Amino acid sequence: MKARSLFLALCFMAATLPASAPEGGGPGGGAPSLMPWPQSLESKPGVHRLTQNLTLSLEACRDGRVTAAAGRLLERVRLRTGFPPQPPGADPRQASLILRCGGDGEPVQTPNTDESYILDISPGAILLEAPSPVGILRGLESIAQLIALDSTSYLLPCLRIEDRPRFRWRGLHIDVARHWEPVDVILRNLDAMAAVKMNVFHWHLSDDQGFRVESRRFPRLHEIGGEGKYYTQEQVRAVVAYARDRGIRVLPEFEMPGHTTAWLAAYPELAAAPGPYHVESAWGVFDPSMDPSREEVYAHLDAFIGEMASLFPDGYFHVGGDEVNGKQWNSSARIREFKAGNGMKNNRQLQAYFTRRLEAILDRHGKKMVGWDEIVHPSVPPTVTVQTWRLPPRFAETLKLGYPGILSRGYYLDHMHPASWHYGIDPGAGLTTEDAGRILGGEACMWAEFVDEEIIESRIWPRAAAIAERLWSPAGVTDVEDMYRRLDSVDAELERLGVRHRSSFPRLLRNILPGGESLPVAALAEILSPRGLAERQRARRYTRETPLRRLVDILPPESAVGRDFDLLVDRALPVPSPADRAAIRESLEHWRRGALKAVPVLERSFVLAEIVPVAESAAAACALGLEALDRLEAAQAPPTAWAGEAERVLERARKSPEIAIAIEPAITKLVHAADSRHAPRGTIP
Ligand code: ACM
Repeated sequence: MKARSLFLALCFMAATLPASAPEGGGPGGGAPSLMPWPQSLESKPGVHRLTQNLTLSLEACRDGRVTAAAGRLLERVRLRTGFPPQPPGADPRQASLILRCGGDGEPVQTPNTDESYILDISPGAILLEAPSPVGILRGLESIAQLIALDSTSYLLPCLRIEDRPRFRWRGLHIDVARHWEPVDVILRNLDAMAAVKMNVFHWHLSDDQGFRVESRRFPRLHEIGGEGKYYTQEQVRAVVAYARDRGIRVLPEFEMPGHTTAWLAAYPELAAAPGPYHVESAWGVFDPSMDPSREEVYAHLDAFIGEMASLFPDGYFHVGGDEVNGKQWNSSARIREFKAGNGMKNNRQLQAYFTRRLEAILDRHGKKMVGWDEIVHPSVPPTVTVQTWRLPPRFAETLKLGYPGILSRGYYLDHMHPASWHYGIDPGAGLTTEDAGRILGGEACMWAEFVDEEIIESRIWPRAAAIAERLWSPAGVTDVEDMYRRLDSVDAELERLGVRHRSSFPRLLRNILPGGESLPVAALAEILSPRGLAERQRARRYTRETPLRRLVDILPPESAVGRDFDLLVDRALPVPSPADRAAIRESLEHWRRGALKAVPVLERSFVLAEIVPVAESAAAACALGLEALDRLEAAQAPPTAWAGEAERVLERARKSPEIAIAIEPAITKLVHAADSRHAPRGTIP
């Protein structure tokens, strides 16, 4: 391979200084903190020490993405270490970061783009080889994650990684219709996606609550449907280019024939019932829908898709297709006649007709169709790709019917499940080899009922990294504790990249604190977590106009101390050691005091006052946990009345609306262990 060397301002220079390499080599085996975990990793003795003289050599690379990504990596190293920038002109023979790329990439990335890479780190050099530029990008992210330090210097462990993704479609879906997201939020998410090797940004650009792209052909779409909040075509091109630079495809989604209120507010003549329509401000499934019986609708869609097809270069185009309630179709005499005249017995057949017409339009514009799983129908050929969001059997059924499949059921981030829950969902679980062969991959979904630009990153990251790993790493990589250990490192890397997933909570909490002492509220917040979409919708009526600045809106989705406490209690029971008892007692006392001290602070903020009952429930639950601990310690069976009262306290804690008390399940376990009706008791040491 003919070397074409290029030098960037900072150089990696190796030095063989004595040190011990981080232990491990596999999840569960300690460091390194790679996420997603690679297909294969072989640890080698020694470390590669970083010095201020970092030299880079690029071989056989003409693709500008590689040069740019290498430059970004070196800048990240510089920011992390504080190393000063190096003047250009270092000697290529001294280079210690060598990138060897097998060829230039395609102008438009596809699901078949080779993302594999081999990374070999020795004390003298870091060698990254890949057949394609995108493979180099993936390997550079692994290098960034491998940087560690010991008592001597920054370093990378010596090792050899051979890596490639398990699935070729690893997406993040972001709904920008229900709440608007400015371009800089999108760009930060693209940086974060690249860091965890995700490769599809699914941009949900239209829905009942907004139409978010400038259309020069149909300007009422963004003017009326977008209500002033839309991406100009120039901004779209910039996002697409930014994503491409990071090895990420951009999949646009325009919902049709349902979820189209904003579209129909702009062009009511496309609707199945007379308008006028107004951009929707509530959440849910609404009646307005396009009229599949009208040729004018297909002419409009042909022209619109033609315009968008050149704006979005990706080979795939998402047309939504979900949740058409059919009410307008049922009440239209014209549509009923159309159905009867074409031998259609139901609305599923009518939607399938619409889907087939749409696929022909997309085909003319060189695009493959993707739709949510409602587009599946015996008359819709498996040339379309199906994204499954409904109950688990759907995915298996869809694949069995021959459709290529993308799994999103189990990856909805707005449901506020912990990372471990998402991590446990495997697209290939329980499938035959043939059906599994049709899996393209999966997508994490960020629906935007409860996120705006200040909050969205905290809802996506770092949990989406666990999904990214599920989609990249071998199916056997399932150790949850090790996942959390590595997620913590990813979390820090995302912060270094400027993602605001951690910084938003303290910033937004400060806005609603009444002044004075804030520590008790912060201590209380640590043991709370927000409930998911369905529970929140049941609790009260929300619309776009509802300010998302209450504690439930801004709390991190997962309570880390809650998880640690749960682990501690699980480990300690059924017979807690004195050390475990002391640790449990200390935590419960700390939280109980914090919750009680928080009450007067909460009362002084009109936003936080609603949390007072939650704080009181949490304090009562902690007190109960302490009593349970006393009973366990005394090995003393509680009176019958105690169990009943304990259950009432726990029930109150469980039922706190919208916000969950994250330590309640562990306290329940303590109470049950103390109550002989639930578990036989051992001897307390
Ligand atoms: C969906 O969640 N309706 C795709």
